[in-house]
Amino acid sequence: MRVDVVTLFPEMVAHALEFSIMARAQETGAVAFGVHNPRDWTTDRHRIVDDAPYGGGAGMVLKPEPLVACIEDILDAPDAAVVLMTPQGETLTGPLVRRLAGVRQMVVLCGHYEGVDERVRELLVTDEVSIGDYVLTGGELPALVLIDAVARLLPGVLGNETSACEDSFEDGLLEHPHYTRPPEFRGMKVPVELVEGHHAVVARWRRKMSLLRTLRRRPDLLARAELSAIDREFLAEIADEAADH
Ligand code: ADE
Repeated sequence: MRVDVVTLFPEMVAHALEFSIMARAQETGAVAFGVHNPRDWTTDRHRIVDDAPYGGGAGMVLKPEPLVACIEDILDAPDAAVVLMTPQGETLTGPLVRRLAGVRQMVVLCGHYEGVDERVRELLVTDEVSIGDYVLTGGELPALVLIDAVARLLPGVLGNETSACEDSFEDGLLEHPHYTRPPEFRGMKVPVELVEGHHAVVARWRRKMSLLRTLRRRPDLLARAELSAIDREFLAEIADEAADH
C-alpha cells in the first residue's frame, strides 16, 4: 500500500513514521510512505497556503489551489482513498480501518486552522475521518493514528500474522489481561490457569476474562458481539458469582 500525507508540518509526520513497526513496514516494502507540503505547490512569491474566510470570522482557511494541485500530482491508484482528517468526519472504528486497509493508495489530508476550502472536499475528498469527539490543533496526530491503525493490518507488517486478529475489537470483545515472569510480584500471583499452561485451560480462562472485562467496561460492545453457547454459559456463571457477593 502507498500512503501519502499532505501536511503543512511534514517533519512532524515523517519523523513519527521512522520508528518501530512503521519503520520496519517501510523497510520490508509492505507500505511506502510519502509526506508532502502543499506550500511546495504554491505559485506566488510568498508561498501562501491560507486566507481569511469569506463572510468573516476568526481563523484562516486553507486555499484550494495548492492543495488540489498537490493532491492531483500525488494521486496514482484509480481506487485511491483521499481522506480528510476533521472532527466533522466519520468516527474511526475497526470496520472503517479495515475498509481503508483494502485500497492501494491512501492520501491523508491534514486540516489546520479553521479548515480547508469546501471545494477541495467536493473535488477530491472521498472520506472524512475523525478520531473522536474532541478537537485537536491540527490533523497530523489524527493522520498518524489512522495510518498506524491501517498499516498494522497490511500483510507482513506485524511479525506474527495472527496477532492482529486476536486483538481487542477484532472479535467485538476487549482483550484478556496479560502476564509475564516473575510468577509473583509484590505478593500478586499470576493466575494458576496460565502458569500451568494447559492449552484448553488457558484458552477458557482468556475467553472468560475477555467476556468479564467487556461486560464491566464496555457492555455496549457485548450487546453487539457474536457469542457462542459456551460464552453465554460463562456470562451466566459470572452473573451468578456476582449475585453471590
Ligand atoms: N482535527 C482536529 N481534531 C480532529 C479530530 N478529532 N479528528 C480528526 N481530525 C481532527
